[in-house]
Amino acid sequence: MPDAPTKSMEEIVSLCRRRGFIFQSSEIYGGINGFWDYGPLGTELKRNLKNAWWQDIVRNELIGPFGDPVQIVGLDSSIIMNPKVWVASGHVGGFNDPMVDCRESKARYRADHLMVLGAAEDGARLYAFIDNDTEQRAKAEKILLKYERREVLDAARHFVRAFTTLNADERARCVGPDAKEPGTLTEPRQFNLMFKTNVGAIEDPANAAYLRPETAQGIFANFDNVINSTRVRVPFGIAQIGKAFRNEVTPRNFTFRSREFEQMELEFFIRPDQAAQWYAWWRDQRFAWWQSIGLTSDNLQLREHDRDELAHYAKVGAGTSDIEYKFPFTSPGFGELEGVAHRGEFDLRQHAEHSGKNDKAKYFDQEKNERYFPHVIEPSAGADRGTLALLCEAYTKDESRPSGVFMKFHPRMAPVKAGIFPLVNKDGMPEIAERLHRELRKRHMCEYDPKQTIGKRYARMDEAGTPFCITIDSETLSAHTVTVRHRDTQLQEKMHIEAVSAWLDAQVG
Ligand code: GAP
Repeated sequence: MPDAPTKSMEEIVSLCRRRGFIFQSSEIYGGINGFWDYGPLGTELKRNLKNAWWQDIVRNELIGPFGDPVQIVGLDSSIIMNPKVWVASGHVGGFNDPMVDCRESKARYRADHLMVLGAAEDGARLYAFIDNDTEQRAKAEKILLKYERREVLDAARHFVRAFTTLNADERARCVGPDAKEPGTLTEPRQFNLMFKTNVGAIEDPANAAYLRPETAQGIFANFDNVINSTRVRVPFGIAQIGKAFRNEVTPRNFTFRSREFEQMELEFFIRPDQAAQWYAWWRDQRFAWWQSIGLTSDNLQLREHDRDELAHYAKVGAGTSDIEYKFPFTSPGFGELEGVAHRGEFDLRQHAEHSGKNDKAKYFDQEKNERYFPHVIEPSAGADRGTLALLCEAYTKDESRPSGVFMKFHPRMAPVKAGIFPLVNKDGMPEIAERLHRELRKRHMCEYDPKQTIGKRYARMDEAGTPFCITIDSETLSAHTVTVRHRDTQLQEKMHIEAVSAWLDAQVG
C-alpha cells in the first residue's frame, strides 16, 4: 500500500469553501462538473501568482545563459481564433484522449487512467480502478480477495496492468470501478478535447469555431506582428496569461483537472544551434521560480520526460521536462504544474505551410542576411494548478492554535498581507487602526477587523494565511508603538507606528 498523504484533501477543500478561496461553479444549481469559481481570498491568491509570473518574466530583466539581458514582451490574444489555426497546430487532428464508458454505471473514464487488478488464472475476473486512487484500489483488492477466499495479495499470483493492454476477452471479464457486473466497459474511443462553438447567427458547420485549448497558438499566429511592431530580435520571448478550455473526459481532483483554466505561457524564440543551452536555462529558471514563491519542500520535483512521453509538437531528442508537485491526491506520486518543452520549429513551420505565408512565420536575420524558422523553448504553467499547489503547501495543522490550522503562504503570495486591529473599541484605538488601515491598503491588501476577541481575530487571519497582524493597544496611545504578531512563529514585536508602512513594503515584496 502506498504511504498515506500527510494532508487531507477533504480538509483543504472544506477550508477553501468555508473561507472563500474556491467555490464550485453555479453551486446554487447543483454545480457543473469541471468548473470552479474563486472567492475573495482565492482571487487575491491567484492574482498574486499571476502578477508574480508577469513581474518576473516580462518586467524583470533576466540575464540569459550567454550573459545578455533577456527580451520578453507581452500579448493578450483572443480566445476564439480562425479554426484553421487549430488544424495547423495539430489540435483538430490529434488533441484526443482515449475514453471508456461503463454501460452499467453510466460513468466515463480516461482509458489511460484505468488500471486492472487480476489473478493469473484463465477466465478469472479482473477489477478496474483509477490509477493513484487508493480507495478504489483497496476496494478492488477487497472484492478480488473475497471472491477467491484469500486473505492477502500474492505477488506470484496477482497482477496489476493498464486497462489499455486488455484484449477483447479480458475486457469481457473486467468489472468497472463503479460496476457490479463484468463486461460493461466499452472499447476505448478517441475523443477530441476542444470545445466547439458557433460564430455568428447561423448555426452551420461552416461557422464552427473552437475555444482555445492553449494560449500558445495566439502567440505563434502573432509572431510576425510582434516582430514588426517592436524592436525584439531573436532570441526573444512572447508571454501571455489567459483562459484555456478543454472538454476533459474526467475532470477531477478539485481544480487540478478542470474544463476551464488559466495558463501562463511563454514562447521563447531562439537560434536552433542554441536550443540546448536555452532549454536547460529555462528549465532551471522555472524550477527556482516555483521555489521562490514558497514551494520549498520536497513536494516539488523536476522530471525529464521519457522519449515515449513527448507531446506531438515536442522535438524528438531534445529536452522536455515537467515541474511537478506532490498533491495529497497524487501522493506518493506527483502531478504536473508546468511543462518546459523544446518545440523546435513545429508551430511556426505549420502556420507557414497552412497559411501559405512562409515569410510571416520565418525570421529574417539582418546581420547574416538569412531567413529561418527559429526554434522555440516553451515554459507553460497552469495558474489554477499553481494556486492549488500553493494552497496544499500552505495548509499546516497546529492543534495548539484556536483555528487548529494555519495557511503558511509565502508573504508575496498571501491574499491578505496584514490584519489591523484595535485591541478594544474605545480610547481612540479604532480611529488610529482605521487610519493605519487606510494608509497600508493603498499598496497592499489589508483587512481591518474590530470584532470579537483578539484570539479569534488571530485565528481568522491564520486560516486566511495573513502573515502579519498589527494591533493598536494602550502603548500606541502612550508611546506610538504597535504590536506586530507573526503568523508562523506567533511571536510578537513592538514597532513604532510610523515605521510600519516601510517595514510591510519590505516584507511582502
Ligand atoms: N502549450 C502547451 C500546453 O498547453 P499542457 O501541458 O497541455 O501544455 C500546460 O498544459 C499547463 O496547463 C499544465 O502544466 C497545467 O498546469 C495546465 N493544465 C493543462 N490542462 C489542465 C486542466 N485540464 N486543468 C487545469 N490545468 C491544466
